[in-house]
Amino acid sequence: MATQPGMTVLVVGNGAREHALATAIAADPSVESVVCAPGNAGTAADFRNAPVAAEDGRAVADLAADLRAGLVVIGPEVPLVAGVADAVRERGIACFGPSAAAARIEGSKAFAKEIMAAAGVPTARFHECDDATQVAAALDDFDPPYVIKDDALAAGKGVVVTSDRAIALAHAESCGSVVVEEFLDGPEVSLFCITDGTTVVPLLPAQDFKRLGDADSGPNTGGMGAYCPLPWAPPTLAEDVVRDVVEPTLTELAKRGTPFSGLLYVGLALTKRGPAVIEFNARFGDPETEAVLALLETPLACVLYAAATGRLADAPPLRWRAGSAVTVVLAAGGYPGPARSGDAICGALRPGVFHAGTSACDGQVISSGGRLVAVTATGPDLAAARDAAYRSLAEIEVDGGQFRTDIALAAVRGEVVVPT
Ligand code: AMP
Ligand code: GLY
Repeated sequence: MATQPGMTVLVVGNGAREHALATAIAADPSVESVVCAPGNAGTAADFRNAPVAAEDGRAVADLAADLRAGLVVIGPEVPLVAGVADAVRERGIACFGPSAAAARIEGSKAFAKEIMAAAGVPTARFHECDDATQVAAALDDFDPPYVIKDDALAAGKGVVVTSDRAIALAHAESCGSVVVEEFLDGPEVSLFCITDGTTVVPLLPAQDFKRLGDADSGPNTGGMGAYCPLPWAPPTLAEDVVRDVVEPTLTELAKRGTPFSGLLYVGLALTKRGPAVIEFNARFGDPETEAVLALLETPLACVLYAAATGRLADAPPLRWRAGSAVTVVLAAGGYPGPARSGDAICGALRPGVFHAGTSACDGQVISSGGRLVAVTATGPDLAAARDAAYRSLAEIEVDGGQFRTDIALAAVRGEVVVPT
């Protein structure tokens, strides 16, 4: 289960999730160095960046071989769906992340639904639609609000939830193939499970905030904040979801000859009828990872290496710090639409500030993407962690920056209720 002592780990991606993963991996005593490809201004300051495109399997595998990396960790979905993990493993290098075939569980909403149906996993009723007539018939089958999902990857922006039938039809038209599904009513949970295909190790349940504005107003984004653990969630949630969702899903994928190893992200709604799957992702979630890893005490590289080498059953149980963690995302003006870029960002090179759309330029940090940084803080309870995260965020200056002011607020006030 131990990693090779003095190991180099290559982290693939350029988001705040990758910065947080690299930070947790570097804190593992068995890790000597961490390289990020392509990384951002934050990972350049803390580690070393290599200018390799995350989606280029051959280039990533070449880089890993040049570095004599003992482990490659692939953060985002696009390289996974493109087969970058396969390319790394073909070189005989341990890789944390599923094959392209298994990553289809995220890459195609229709495939995910097919697996769930075959595995008997609770999820929303749905219809797959390829044209406007089919979409209209599907909408007739459900009460509003309507849920329309682009079948393909869309960086968290492919889903429209609306009670306006015209908006639902227009979104479907702009996507091509869509899944139209029943609205699941209840608070959402993100449960991350590390797996080698057989053994499953759940992390702390977290909640993220997908809408741009306070009180869940505005468009969906890649995520504007997160917190963990969830004071309102049933104590057996993780074990229930592992038993009822994760294990049957892994069994079904293995049966099809596409075993899943890496991180299975289960997005759930806790409905009156129990937890139901909203989505699967084939990777750590962003920004939940930044909050979850802030509470993880167990050295992360050892656990990821054990999963990547099929020996997760030998890993000791995870240890967690007491208290809570809160992450608030600072996004550029215009996000989630075309975001402004090229602005100087001050006060962002600090522990707990995980970088995403930033680049280093003449000793300055410059905005170069939609989500800029994910500011994370911990505290003895959720209220304290929330205060600390917002205090830390207040030290960062960027023109036109936007953030939500209500991350974790409903949970602090005890207003999140699981329907019974
Ligand atoms: P997804 O990309 O599938 O995670 O969807 C993005 C967001 O849309 C989710 O986090 C939910 O907030 C919302 N959503 C998706 N599917 C449903 C559903 N069936 N019922 C209610 N909300 C949904
Ligand atoms: N937090 C949502 C996602 O990573 O897809």
